[in-house]
This record gives sequence, structure tokens and C-alpha cells, in this order.
Amino acid sequence: MHSPWAVVTGASAGLGVHYAERLAEQGSNLILAARSADKLADVADDLRRRHGVTVEVRAVDLATEAGRADFVDEIRGTHVHTLINNAGFASVGSFSELDADRVQQEVSLNAGALTELTHAVVGPMVARGRGAIVNVSSTSAFQAMAGMAVYAATKGYVLQFSVGLWAELHDTGVRVLAVCPGPTDTSFFANAGNDDVLRRRRRPEQVIDATFKALAEHRPFVVDGARNKLVAFSNRLVPRSFAARLAPTYLRIA
Ligand SMILES: NC(=O)c1ccc[n+]([C@@H]2O[C@H](COP(=O)([O-])OP(=O)(O)OC[C@H]3O[C@@H](n4cnc5c(N)ncnc54)[C@H](OP(=O)(O)O)[C@@H]3O)[C@@H](O)[C@H]2O)c1
Repeated sequence: MHSPWAVVTGASAGLGVHYAERLAEQGSNLILAARSADKLADVADDLRRRHGVTVEVRAVDLATEAGRADFVDEIRGTHVHTLINNAGFASVGSFSELDADRVQQEVSLNAGALTELTHAVVGPMVARGRGAIVNVSSTSAFQAMAGMAVYAATKGYVLQFSVGLWAELHDTGVRVLAVCPGPTDTSFFANAGNDDVLRRRRRPEQVIDATFKALAEHRPFVVDGARNKLVAFSNRLVPRSFAARLAPTYLRIA
């Protein structure tokens, strides 16, 4: 595929649909990835019809190395100007009681796929002297969390990896941004196993606005929303152990 593309993972639902929408509004041709082929097809049809862009879909399970291998190879050989590493999920509950396969997939999707896809696009971006890599992290990146220990750890990885890469690529023309949303109105919490928690949620459009503003300002990371910024910052003021032990209270699993 020779014309330049934007790639959005997790584009069948939630934030990914909104990232795809914003990129289509900007005139980008799109490659959309997720597992749900039907939902991806609907999103793609809608964007083609309303924005006149070319949209390709890839129904892939990015949570396993085998599932994503062909897709990563394809992306390595594609001219990508923007990569949005958005696919991710959480598991709410005691680590010892979580399904072992689910835990392994959570790490592999949230951290592994994101790293492999970043590696696939970054070399050509540096060679061209331009490009953007957006890695969706979370406010949970700023604290350890009992009851969501794996998720918070993977999002901490995403933040540290992204800011490190931002610094490494600072003079290359390639932008790297970690986006840290707080609770946002998508199917995320339902998929995590508990939709009753943290009901005060921001709209996906606000996260997308924060992303593109921070990208334009060449920032290494952005926390979406004033309240979430306060929560992220206040974690610096309390012991890690305190913040980690508080989490089950507001996740209502204590
Ligand atoms: N919503 C929040 O409150 C919140 C807060 C902080 C951070 N985030 C982060 O924001 C990102 C987007 O989440 P969301 O809120 O939009 O959640 P969502 O509505 O559950 O959407 C998740 C997306 O990821 C895809 N996905 C899940 N597992 C996948 C797999 N194995 N392979 C490929 N794609 C997969 C899903 O598609 P399929 O099911 O079709 O595969 C879906 O498109 C995630 O990284 C999440 O951690 C969300």
C-alpha cells in the first residue's frame, strides 16, 4: 500500500471509533484493526460515506503474538503517517482469582502489541523526518492499583515507554504522545467486568480533543480533563502504598 495511512487499533468501539472519525475528518486514509469484523465494517462504511476517505479493515486478535504477526508485518511494509495504539482492556478483581489466559492477553495487548506496532512504524518515520505515534495509556499509569494491578502496571509501561521514546526522537520530527484518560464513557468498564464503578465519566470526544491539542504542542503525555489531572498529580503527594490500597474502595470491590 503506497499512499500514506493512519492506523488505529481497537477501532471497532469506544475511543478507537472517535480517533478514526477525527482522522477521517482530517482527510486521512485509514487502516482499522480490532477483532470484531462486523463492527469494523460498519465503522469503515460510515467513514467512507461521510468523509470520502479510503478505509481498510483488519480483523485481528492483537493480544497474541501469533494473532498479530501478519498484521505487524503488513504495517512494517506500509507508509504510516500516524499510528494510534488504542486497543486495550482491563480486568477488575483479585489477581489470584483472574483467569491466567486473560492476564497474559492483557499484558500482551496493552504492552506487547503496542510496542511491536511502534517498532514497525518508527524507523520509516524517522527516515522521513515526520510521523506521529499516539499510545493510549491511562490515569492508572500514575499509581499502583490493588484490584487492577495488571492493568495499572501495563499503563505505567505505556507511559514510561512513550515518554522515553518521545525524548529519544525529540529532534527527528517524529511525535510520540502518551494519552492518559480517566474514566471515559465507552464499553471499557463493562468489558473489565464492572460497569457500576466510576460513573462520572468524560466523553470520548474530549479525549480526542486533548490528544490532538497535545500532539500539536509536541508534548510527551497528556492527562485528559482537569479533575483527572488533579488525581494524577495528587498521586505524587501520597505514598505509593496508600494510593494502591485505596483503589479497591473506589472500584467498589473492597
Ligand atoms: N474508557 C475508559 O475509561 C478508559 C480510561 C483510561 C484508558 N482507557 C484506554 O483506552 C483504550 C480504548 O478503550 P475504550 O475505552 O475505547 O474501551 P472499549 O470500548 O472496550 O474498546 C476497546 C477496543 O479495543 C479492541 N480490542 C480489545 N481486545 C482486542 C484484541 N485482543 N485485539 C484487537 N483489538 C482488541 C476492541 O475491539 P474488539 O472487541 O472488536 O476486538 C475495541 O475496539 C484502551 O487502551 C483503554 O485501556 C480507557
